[in-house]
Amino acid sequence: MSNRSDVLSPKLSRHLLTISDLSREGAIHILDTADELARVSDAPIKKLPTLRGRTVVNLFYEDSTRTRISFEAAAKRLSADVINFSAKGSSVSKGESLKDTALTLQSMGADAVILRHSASGAAHRLAQWTDGVVINAGDGTHEHPTQALLDAFTLRKHLKGARGEDLSGVRIAIVGDILHSRVARSNVLLLSLLGAHITLVAPPTLLPVGVHDWPVEISYDFDEAIGECDAVMMLRLQMERMKSAFFPSAREYSRLYGLDRERMKKSKKNPLILHPGPINRGLEISADCADDVDSVILEQVANGVSVRMAVLYLLLGGSHE
Ligand code: CP
Repeated sequence: MSNRSDVLSPKLSRHLLTISDLSREGAIHILDTADELARVSDAPIKKLPTLRGRTVVNLFYEDSTRTRISFEAAAKRLSADVINFSAKGSSVSKGESLKDTALTLQSMGADAVILRHSASGAAHRLAQWTDGVVINAGDGTHEHPTQALLDAFTLRKHLKGARGEDLSGVRIAIVGDILHSRVARSNVLLLSLLGAHITLVAPPTLLPVGVHDWPVEISYDFDEAIGECDAVMMLRLQMERMKSAFFPSAREYSRLYGLDRERMKKSKKNPLILHPGPINRGLEISADCADDVDSVILEQVANGVSVRMAVLYLLLGGSHE
Protein backbone atom coordinates (compact mmCIF):
# COMPACT_ATOMS: atom_id res chain seq x y z
CA MET A 1 0.00 0.00 0.00
CA SER A 2 1.42 3.37 -0.97
CA ASN A 3 1.38 6.20 1.55
CA ARG A 4 2.22 8.88 -1.02
CA SER A 5 0.22 11.86 0.16
CA ASP A 6 1.61 13.70 -2.90
CA VAL A 7 -0.78 11.76 -5.14
CA LEU A 8 -3.65 13.64 -3.55
CA SER A 9 -2.62 16.78 -5.47
CA PRO A 10 0.20 19.28 -5.46
CA LYS A 11 -1.97 21.59 -3.33
CA LEU A 12 -2.90 18.85 -0.86
CA SER A 13 0.36 17.79 0.62
CA ARG A 14 -0.78 18.28 4.19
CA HIS A 15 -4.50 18.90 4.53
CA LEU A 16 -7.91 17.79 3.29
CA LEU A 17 -9.95 20.98 3.20
CA THR A 18 -11.99 20.69 0.01
CA ILE A 19 -12.61 18.18 -2.77
CA SER A 20 -11.33 20.84 -5.20
CA ASP A 21 -7.82 19.98 -3.99
CA LEU A 22 -8.12 16.41 -5.30
CA SER A 23 -7.19 15.19 -8.73
CA ARG A 24 -9.18 12.29 -10.21
CA GLU A 25 -6.17 9.99 -9.59
CA GLY A 26 -5.84 11.29 -6.03
CA ALA A 27 -9.50 10.60 -5.30
CA ILE A 28 -9.25 7.08 -6.74
CA HIS A 29 -6.10 6.47 -4.71
CA ILE A 30 -7.95 7.38 -1.50
CA LEU A 31 -10.83 5.06 -2.45
CA ASP A 32 -8.43 2.21 -3.33
CA THR A 33 -6.54 2.71 -0.04
CA ALA A 34 -9.87 2.65 1.83
CA ASP A 35 -10.69 -0.62 0.07
CA GLU A 36 -7.48 -2.16 1.41
CA LEU A 37 -7.98 -0.74 4.90
CA ALA A 38 -11.59 -2.01 5.00
CA ARG A 39 -10.09 -5.46 5.50
CA VAL A 40 -8.87 -4.33 8.93
CA SER A 41 -12.46 -3.62 9.94
CA ASP A 42 -13.42 -7.17 8.92
CA ALA A 43 -10.54 -8.79 10.84
CA PRO A 44 -10.99 -10.23 14.38
CA ILE A 45 -8.44 -7.70 15.73
CA LYS A 46 -9.35 -4.37 14.15
CA LYS A 47 -6.02 -2.64 14.60
CA LEU A 48 -2.88 -1.68 12.66
CA PRO A 49 0.21 -0.13 14.32
CA THR A 50 0.55 2.42 11.49
CA LEU A 51 -0.03 5.68 13.41
CA ARG A 52 1.38 4.58 16.77
CA GLY A 53 2.70 7.62 18.67
CA ARG A 54 0.60 10.10 16.62
CA THR A 55 -2.11 12.25 18.20
CA VAL A 56 -5.33 13.11 16.42
CA VAL A 57 -7.70 15.74 17.84
CA ASN A 58 -11.41 15.77 17.03
CA LEU A 59 -12.22 19.50 17.32
CA PHE A 60 -15.99 19.76 17.02
CA TYR A 61 -17.83 23.08 17.34
CA GLU A 62 -21.02 21.56 15.89
CA ASP A 63 -22.84 18.41 16.91
CA SER A 64 -21.99 15.16 15.18
CA THR A 65 -22.59 11.45 15.64
CA ARG A 66 -21.26 9.69 12.52
CA THR A 67 -18.30 11.90 11.58
CA ARG A 68 -16.84 12.31 15.07
CA ILE A 69 -17.22 8.68 16.08
CA SER A 70 -15.96 7.30 12.77
CA PHE A 71 -12.88 9.56 12.83
CA GLU A 72 -12.23 8.35 16.37
CA ALA A 73 -12.68 4.69 15.32
CA ALA A 74 -10.49 5.23 12.25
CA ALA A 75 -7.66 6.84 14.23
CA LYS A 76 -7.82 4.14 16.91
CA ARG A 77 -7.77 1.35 14.32
CA LEU A 78 -4.51 2.86 13.10
CA SER A 79 -3.23 3.00 16.74
CA ALA A 80 -3.20 6.80 17.00
CA ASP A 81 -4.02 8.51 20.30
CA VAL A 82 -7.30 10.42 20.06
CA ILE A 83 -8.39 13.53 21.95
CA ASN A 84 -12.05 14.47 21.63
CA PHE A 85 -12.74 18.17 22.03
CA SER A 86 -16.28 19.45 22.07
CA ALA A 87 -16.83 23.22 22.16
CA LYS A 88 -19.64 22.65 24.65
CA GLY A 89 -18.10 22.49 28.12
CA SER A 90 -14.76 23.98 26.99
CA SER A 91 -13.17 27.43 27.37
CA VAL A 92 -14.91 28.42 24.12
CA SER A 93 -17.80 29.44 26.41
CA LYS A 94 -15.37 31.96 28.01
CA GLY A 95 -14.69 33.50 24.59
CA GLU A 96 -11.56 31.58 23.56
CA SER A 97 -11.09 31.86 19.79
CA LEU A 98 -10.66 29.02 17.28
CA LYS A 99 -7.07 30.14 16.74
CA ASP A 100 -6.15 30.07 20.44
CA THR A 101 -7.94 26.77 20.93
CA ALA A 102 -6.06 25.25 18.00
CA LEU A 103 -2.68 26.60 19.16
CA THR A 104 -3.37 25.21 22.64
CA LEU A 105 -4.06 21.77 21.15
CA GLN A 106 -0.94 22.02 19.00
CA SER A 107 1.14 22.77 22.10
CA MET A 108 -0.20 19.55 23.56
CA GLY A 109 1.25 17.64 20.60
CA ALA A 110 -1.63 17.27 18.13
CA ASP A 111 -0.37 15.91 14.80
CA ALA A 112 -3.76 16.25 13.10
CA VAL A 113 -6.85 18.30 13.84
CA ILE A 114 -10.21 17.23 12.50
CA LEU A 115 -12.44 20.30 12.52
CA ARG A 116 -16.18 20.71 12.33
CA HIS A 117 -17.35 24.30 12.52
CA SER A 118 -20.46 26.30 11.66
CA ALA A 119 -18.43 28.90 9.71
CA SER A 120 -17.71 28.20 6.04
CA GLY A 121 -13.94 28.50 5.57
CA ALA A 122 -13.04 27.68 9.19
CA ALA A 123 -10.87 24.70 8.19
CA HIS A 124 -8.93 26.86 5.70
CA ARG A 125 -8.26 29.45 8.43
CA LEU A 126 -7.14 26.76 10.85
CA ALA A 127 -4.71 25.37 8.26
CA GLN A 128 -3.03 28.79 8.13
CA TRP A 129 -2.53 28.90 11.90
CA THR A 130 -1.32 25.41 12.78
CA ASP A 131 1.64 23.27 11.79
CA GLY A 132 -0.25 19.97 11.82
CA VAL A 133 -2.57 18.30 9.36
CA VAL A 134 -6.08 19.79 9.14
CA ILE A 135 -9.02 17.73 7.95
CA ASN A 136 -12.32 19.44 7.22
CA ALA A 137 -15.14 17.50 8.91
CA GLY A 138 -17.78 19.98 7.71
CA ASP A 139 -17.54 23.79 7.59
CA GLY A 140 -20.83 25.66 7.53
CA THR A 141 -22.59 25.20 4.21
CA HIS A 142 -19.28 24.93 2.35
CA GLU A 143 -17.89 21.37 2.26
CA HIS A 144 -17.73 17.96 3.92
CA PRO A 145 -15.04 16.18 1.87
CA THR A 146 -14.81 12.90 3.80
CA GLN A 147 -18.60 12.47 3.54
CA ALA A 148 -18.34 12.76 -0.26
CA LEU A 149 -15.45 10.28 -0.28
CA LEU A 150 -17.43 7.73 1.72
CA ASP A 151 -20.45 8.28 -0.52
CA ALA A 152 -18.30 7.71 -3.63
CA PHE A 153 -16.75 4.65 -1.98
CA THR A 154 -20.23 3.22 -1.30
CA LEU A 155 -21.47 4.00 -4.81
CA ARG A 156 -18.36 2.44 -6.35
CA LYS A 157 -18.94 -0.79 -4.40
CA HIS A 158 -22.33 -1.21 -6.07
CA LEU A 159 -22.16 0.67 -9.36
CA LYS A 160 -18.95 0.37 -11.33
CA GLY A 161 -18.48 3.11 -13.91
CA ALA A 162 -17.78 2.41 -17.56
CA ARG A 163 -14.05 2.74 -16.83
CA GLY A 164 -14.18 0.27 -13.92
CA GLU A 165 -12.30 2.26 -11.30
CA ASP A 166 -14.56 5.34 -11.30
CA LEU A 167 -18.25 6.24 -11.66
CA SER A 168 -18.28 7.28 -15.30
CA GLY A 169 -21.75 7.12 -16.77
CA VAL A 170 -23.45 6.40 -13.43
CA ARG A 171 -26.56 8.58 -12.97
CA ILE A 172 -27.08 10.02 -9.51
CA ALA A 173 -29.89 12.27 -8.27
CA ILE A 174 -29.09 14.46 -5.25
CA VAL A 175 -32.39 15.56 -3.76
CA GLY A 176 -33.57 18.16 -1.29
CA ASP A 177 -31.95 20.96 0.65
CA ILE A 178 -29.03 21.67 -1.68
CA LEU A 179 -28.86 25.29 -0.49
CA HIS A 180 -27.64 24.47 3.02
CA SER A 181 -25.82 21.24 2.17
CA ARG A 182 -22.04 20.98 2.40
CA VAL A 183 -22.54 17.29 1.57
CA ALA A 184 -24.12 18.24 -1.78
CA ARG A 185 -21.30 20.66 -2.62
CA SER A 186 -18.56 18.12 -1.91
CA ASN A 187 -20.47 15.39 -3.72
CA VAL A 188 -21.04 17.47 -6.84
CA LEU A 189 -17.29 18.13 -7.02
CA LEU A 190 -16.22 14.55 -6.34
CA LEU A 191 -18.86 12.60 -8.26
CA SER A 192 -18.40 14.77 -11.34
CA LEU A 193 -14.62 14.33 -11.03
CA LEU A 194 -15.28 10.58 -11.10
CA GLY A 195 -17.41 10.89 -14.23
CA ALA A 196 -20.92 10.53 -12.78
CA HIS A 197 -23.91 12.31 -14.28
CA ILE A 198 -25.56 14.33 -11.51
CA THR A 199 -29.09 15.70 -11.35
CA LEU A 200 -29.95 18.06 -8.52
CA VAL A 201 -33.62 17.87 -7.58
CA ALA A 202 -35.01 20.59 -5.32
CA PRO A 203 -37.51 23.40 -5.12
CA PRO A 204 -36.04 26.63 -6.57
CA THR A 205 -35.89 28.11 -3.05
CA LEU A 206 -33.50 25.39 -1.90
CA LEU A 207 -30.98 25.81 -4.71
CA PRO A 208 -28.01 28.15 -4.21
CA VAL A 209 -27.24 31.19 -6.33
CA GLY A 210 -24.89 30.17 -9.15
CA VAL A 211 -26.01 26.53 -9.24
CA HIS A 212 -26.54 26.76 -13.00
CA ASP A 213 -22.77 27.00 -13.38
CA TRP A 214 -22.23 23.68 -11.54
CA PRO A 215 -21.51 20.52 -13.59
CA VAL A 216 -25.03 19.19 -13.02
CA GLU A 217 -28.49 19.00 -14.51
CA ILE A 218 -31.28 20.62 -12.50
CA SER A 219 -34.79 19.29 -12.10
CA TYR A 220 -37.79 20.45 -10.13
CA ASP A 221 -39.66 17.22 -10.86
CA PHE A 222 -38.58 14.29 -8.69
CA ASP A 223 -41.03 11.85 -10.34
CA GLU A 224 -39.35 12.45 -13.67
CA ALA A 225 -35.76 12.54 -12.35
CA ILE A 226 -36.05 9.27 -10.44
CA GLY A 227 -36.95 7.43 -13.67
CA GLU A 228 -33.42 7.07 -15.03
CA CYS A 229 -31.15 7.27 -11.99
CA ASP A 230 -28.92 4.49 -10.61
CA ALA A 231 -28.75 6.06 -7.17
CA VAL A 232 -30.70 8.64 -5.26
CA MET A 233 -29.02 10.63 -2.49
CA MET A 234 -31.59 12.17 -0.17
CA LEU A 235 -30.52 15.20 1.87
CA ARG A 236 -31.66 16.25 5.30
CA LEU A 237 -33.76 19.40 5.50
CA GLN A 238 -31.48 21.59 7.63
CA MET A 239 -34.13 23.42 9.63
CA GLU A 240 -31.48 24.75 12.04
CA ARG A 241 -29.96 26.81 9.20
CA MET A 242 -33.31 28.13 7.87
CA LYS A 243 -34.16 31.62 9.07
CA SER A 244 -37.32 31.92 6.95
CA ALA A 245 -39.87 29.71 5.15
CA PHE A 246 -38.38 27.91 2.14
CA PHE A 247 -41.50 25.83 1.32
CA PRO A 248 -45.20 26.15 2.18
CA SER A 249 -45.34 23.19 4.61
CA ALA A 250 -43.49 20.01 5.59
CA ARG A 251 -46.34 17.98 4.09
CA GLU A 252 -46.08 19.79 0.77
CA TYR A 253 -42.30 19.30 0.75
CA SER A 254 -42.64 15.55 1.38
CA ARG A 255 -45.26 15.22 -1.32
CA LEU A 256 -43.07 16.84 -3.97
CA TYR A 257 -39.52 16.05 -2.86
CA GLY A 258 -39.70 13.19 -0.35
CA LEU A 259 -38.77 9.59 -1.20
CA ASP A 260 -41.42 6.96 -0.50
CA ARG A 261 -42.52 3.62 -1.95
CA GLU A 262 -44.92 5.22 -4.43
CA ARG A 263 -42.16 7.39 -5.88
CA MET A 264 -39.73 4.45 -6.00
CA LYS A 265 -42.22 2.69 -8.33
CA LYS A 266 -41.53 5.44 -10.89
CA SER A 267 -37.87 4.42 -11.13
CA LYS A 268 -36.81 2.06 -13.91
CA LYS A 269 -33.58 0.87 -12.31
CA ASN A 270 -34.26 0.18 -8.61
CA PRO A 271 -31.86 2.93 -7.51
CA LEU A 272 -29.59 2.64 -4.50
CA ILE A 273 -30.85 4.85 -1.68
CA LEU A 274 -28.27 7.00 0.12
CA HIS A 275 -28.60 9.55 2.91
CA PRO A 276 -25.70 11.14 4.82
CA GLY A 277 -27.70 11.18 8.05
CA PRO A 278 -29.08 12.17 10.41
CA ILE A 279 -32.43 11.27 8.81
CA ASN A 280 -35.73 13.07 9.27
CA ARG A 281 -37.89 9.97 8.83
CA GLY A 282 -41.23 10.81 7.25
CA LEU A 283 -39.99 14.17 5.95
CA GLU A 284 -37.32 13.76 3.22
CA ILE A 285 -37.51 9.95 3.29
CA SER A 286 -40.15 7.50 4.48
CA ALA A 287 -39.19 4.92 7.11
CA ASP A 288 -39.78 2.01 4.72
CA CYS A 289 -37.45 3.54 2.09
CA ALA A 290 -34.78 4.26 4.72
CA ASP A 291 -34.92 0.59 5.75
CA ASP A 292 -35.41 -0.80 2.22
CA VAL A 293 -33.16 -3.55 0.81
CA ASP A 294 -31.85 -0.99 -1.70
CA SER A 295 -30.93 1.42 1.10
CA VAL A 296 -27.17 1.63 1.77
CA ILE A 297 -27.47 4.23 4.52
CA LEU A 298 -25.88 2.07 7.24
CA GLU A 299 -23.28 0.82 4.78
CA GLN A 300 -22.32 4.48 4.23
CA VAL A 301 -21.71 4.76 7.98
CA ALA A 302 -19.52 1.64 8.04
CA ASN A 303 -17.60 2.76 4.96
CA GLY A 304 -16.96 6.10 6.66
CA VAL A 305 -14.51 4.40 9.01
CA SER A 306 -12.46 2.84 6.16
CA VAL A 307 -12.41 6.08 4.16
CA ARG A 308 -11.33 8.12 7.18
CA MET A 309 -8.64 5.55 7.95
CA ALA A 310 -7.36 6.05 4.39
CA VAL A 311 -7.35 9.84 4.73
CA LEU A 312 -5.50 9.71 8.07
CA TYR A 313 -3.08 7.12 6.74
CA LEU A 314 -2.26 9.14 3.62
CA LEU A 315 -2.02 12.54 5.32
CA LEU A 316 -0.12 11.39 8.40
CA GLY A 317 2.18 9.20 6.30
CA GLY A 318 1.68 5.90 8.06
CA SER A 319 4.50 3.39 8.16
CA HIS A 320 4.47 0.20 6.09
CA GLU A 321 4.56 -2.14 9.09
N1 CP B 1 -23.23 12.83 7.87
C1 CP B 1 -22.80 13.52 8.95
O1 CP B 1 -21.95 14.41 8.85
O2 CP B 1 -23.37 13.11 10.13
P1 CP B 1 -23.00 13.71 11.55
O3 CP B 1 -23.50 15.12 11.59
O4 CP B 1 -23.73 12.82 12.55
O5 CP B 1 -21.52 13.66 11.72
